[in-house]
Amino acid sequence: MSEDETDQCRRFSFIVFFILITVQIVSGSSLQTDKEVLLDLKSFLNYQNRVNRGRCMEWNEQSASPCDWPGITCSSNGGRVTGINLSGYDISGTIFGNFSALTELSDLDLSKNTISGEIVADLSRCKNLKYLNLSHNIIQGKLNLIGLNSLETLDLAVNRLSGGIQSNFPAICDRLIIANISANRFSGRIDNCFEECWNLQYLDLSSNNFSGQMWPGFQRLREFSVSENFLTGDVLASTFTEHCNLEILDLSENHLYGEVPKEVSNCKGLVTLNLWGNNFTGVLPSEIGLLSNLKGLYLGSNNFSREIPDSLLNCSKLAFLDLSKNGFGGDIQEIFGRFNQVMYLVLHGNSYTGGIISSGILKLQNVSRLDLSSNKFSGPLQVEFSEMPSVEFLILAFNNFSGSIPPEFGNLLHLQALDLSFNRLTGSIPPAIGKLSRLLWLMLANNSLTGVIPPEIGNCSSLLWLNLANNQLSGKIPPELSNIGRNATPTFESNKQNNRGKAGSSECLVIKRWIPADYTPFSFAYNLLTRKSCRTIWRRLLEGYGLFPICIGGSMVRTLQISGYLQLAGNQFAGEVPAEIGKMQNFSIFNLGINEFSGKLPPEIGRLPLSLFNVSHNKFSGEIPPEIGQLRCLQNLDLSYNNFSGSFPKSLNYLTELSKFNISYNPFISGAIPTTGQLATFEKESFLGNPLLVLPAFINNTSDTTEESPTNWEYEYGGKPNKQTIWDVFLVSLAAFLIFGVLSFIVTWKCFHFKQN
Ligand SMILES: *[C@@H]1O[C@H](CO)[C@@H](O)[C@H](O)[C@H]1NC(C)=O
Ligand SMILES: *[C@@H]1O[C@H](CO)[C@@H](O)[C@H](O)[C@H]1NC(C)=O
Ligand SMILES: *[C@@H]1O[C@H](CO)[C@@H](O)[C@H](O)[C@H]1NC(C)=O
Ligand SMILES: *[C@@H]1O[C@H](CO)[C@@H](O)[C@H](O)[C@H]1NC(C)=O
Ligand SMILES: *[C@@H]1O[C@H](CO)[C@@H](O)[C@H](O)[C@H]1NC(C)=O
Ligand SMILES: *[C@@H]1O[C@H](CO)[C@@H](O)[C@H](O)[C@H]1NC(C)=O
Ligand SMILES: *[C@@H]1O[C@H](CO)[C@@H](O)[C@H](O)[C@H]1NC(C)=O
Ligand SMILES: *[C@@H]1O[C@H](CO)[C@@H](O)[C@H](O)[C@H]1NC(C)=O
Ligand SMILES: *[C@@H]1O[C@H](CO)[C@@H](O)[C@H](O)[C@H]1NC(C)=O
Repeated sequence: MSEDETDQCRRFSFIVFFILITVQIVSGSSLQTDKEVLLDLKSFLNYQNRVNRGRCMEWNEQSASPCDWPGITCSSNGGRVTGINLSGYDISGTIFGNFSALTELSDLDLSKNTISGEIVADLSRCKNLKYLNLSHNIIQGKLNLIGLNSLETLDLAVNRLSGGIQSNFPAICDRLIIANISANRFSGRIDNCFEECWNLQYLDLSSNNFSGQMWPGFQRLREFSVSENFLTGDVLASTFTEHCNLEILDLSENHLYGEVPKEVSNCKGLVTLNLWGNNFTGVLPSEIGLLSNLKGLYLGSNNFSREIPDSLLNCSKLAFLDLSKNGFGGDIQEIFGRFNQVMYLVLHGNSYTGGIISSGILKLQNVSRLDLSSNKFSGPLQVEFSEMPSVEFLILAFNNFSGSIPPEFGNLLHLQALDLSFNRLTGSIPPAIGKLSRLLWLMLANNSLTGVIPPEIGNCSSLLWLNLANNQLSGKIPPELSNIGRNATPTFESNKQNNRGKAGSSECLVIKRWIPADYTPFSFAYNLLTRKSCRTIWRRLLEGYGLFPICIGGSMVRTLQISGYLQLAGNQFAGEVPAEIGKMQNFSIFNLGINEFSGKLPPEIGRLPLSLFNVSHNKFSGEIPPEIGQLRCLQNLDLSYNNFSGSFPKSLNYLTELSKFNISYNPFISGAIPTTGQLATFEKESFLGNPLLVLPAFINNTSDTTEESPTNWEYEYGGKPNKQTIWDVFLVSLAAFLIFGVLSFIVTWKCFHFKQN
């Protein structure tokens, strides 16, 4: 070794030594810096969250290292802070502006909070970030993450971000594997954004306002969803090559058209193909039959031609088949009777007139959900429906079925939902219905049924949602009716185990019929229905989770237990309402309006967890039970058009959540309406035709506004500002709860799904 070389070597060692020392010093002081930054973060959160402070309040200044603080992860040698997870910490306010001072930060999860404001510029200086999850917040403004070149996972789902995405994609694409920007307000084109994202595998752009043409490169992903956007044009054959990697492809609810290219069969691994809600035309390519892993095929609401290729029968795993709303007429295609393994068969919204028996669909061993609603079937309900081996959800509404309900329907022992509404059925409700102990939902509204409610119905211990409205049913309410829905737990439990609601496609239609849309507290949900939320609501119902808070009579404690409804409006029921009704502790909506009920209202209703009680247009008489004043969660009380008498119960003034109230046309009611409190918030229209009732002067003087009377099926809420505010607050919290529930469900479901794949 020459002197020179030795010298160089020495110099080199020295440099290395120097670097090592520096690194040591810097990293030593850096954990200290990291701790300081975290303490800054803590006081920042402290400042922004006066009430809910989450677990970062446990971050203790005295501890030597921040590495064991909740939500904090450090590098394996404990040298630096690498991860912050504040998911679900109840954080509100803007994003902390100094995350970049944590120079080794690689994972940042702020999901499931109510973080607002824009994405701060500081965030894009976190150069080492690999995982960024800001999902489920209310972040707005434009996407601005240029600089995050190490990102592998980006989740921004469910926020309020807007504008285009071109400036960020492909700029942050280098290492990106998962990108989820669904449920925001992004707009503009997508077709030139992801071409250079060579590592991308999961891309979710759903529920935004994207427009323009499809991105033709999506086939190399494993999962691509662009559902609920405004994309247009056709899907080119060249999109699908031999190298197609797709497992989940969801193009639903866009404006795509043209034929489905047969090359889609190149995607051998495809498990879900969802083309629902576009304008695809032509014959389904028979090559789809080559997709041997296909489980879900959703082709509804398109313009496919009637011939379904036989090759589809080769998809031996096909469980969910939706060919609703494709304008098919005549008989149900015979091929449907040969999908032996199908579990969900959804053919609603076509124009079928026959073929129910001849197609053989009723013999399918595994069909658990059959939806033939909104077609043109007529004639008597086939007895053969009752021989379906596995059916749980039988939806035959909106047809022209006539004649009576075959008693054999009582043999469908797995049945959980039976919807025969909006047909022309006559005759009486068969007592055999009482054999259906798993039945949760019985929907017979808008037919011409006559006769009495069979007492056997009380054996339906799971029956929580009973809608018999708008028929010609008569007689007294049998006391046994109060036994329905007394214990649906076994049904709910088995649904939890079997994941019944897991994947479907016609939930929204079903849900819309399930929800009595014109009633609070359901009306809120009506506005939130998207394809995803419907699925979630449906699943929550089937598993027995409540959708809105209720409180039992006499209590103000709200619980989120499931609650049922009893809709008997628009019939000819008569006689007294039995006192046993007080036993129906799982029911919160009673609509007995437009009948011929008479006698006194039983005071036992004061024990129910009611949110709606409507007895309008009957012949009830006697005093209004003061016990109604105990129903602290009551929102809607209609006593109009009866013959109540005696003194107006002042206890009703305790009903602080009441947003709709009507006592009109009870000419023998006397007494005075208090000048303060909840009752004073209602207008004159709530007290019409009560000559003996003394109203506060200000109510009497309100100008006579002639309101259009709302129709039964489309009721728009209108109220005075003061009630409205309370109502708004309530609605917002309900909505928030629902959205949260919906989202957490979707997320859980997706994760589960991911793992499965
Ligand atoms: C960010 O944190 C570092 C380290 O604690 C500090 O020196 C710097 O002033 C902070 N910057 C801002 C903008 O707060
Ligand atoms: C669907 O496509 C057909 C034929 O191409 C066209 O006539 C029809 O207007 C389209 N419908 C919609 C809703 O775009
Ligand atoms: C029906 O489902 C069962 C259980 O999932 C399965 O074992 C059976 O093979 C299916 N029947 C047909 C005909 O596919
Ligand atoms: C349901 O029945 C009621 C009462 O018979 C009627 O007013 C209403 O229009 C019907 N609804 C529909 C959608 O047919
Ligand atoms: C009570 O029920 C009747 C009959 O269904 C309906 O017309 C009325 O609008 C309902 N009242 C309220 C306040 O919802
Ligand atoms: C209504 O109630 C009044 C007072 O109780 C009674 O005199 C009258 O007969 C009742 N009318 C009807 C039609 O029931
Ligand atoms: C109460 O019922 C009467 C009779 O149906 C109706 O005219 C009035 O508009 C209703 N009032 C309110 C506030 O809905
Ligand atoms: C994207 O996020 C939404 C909301 O959390 C979730 O429902 C969806 O499954 C996610 N997409 C993917 C591909 O994981
Ligand atoms: C982001 O956070 C949400 C809510 O905590 C979670 O469900 C989701 O799986 C996370 N996303 C990714 C891609 O990990």
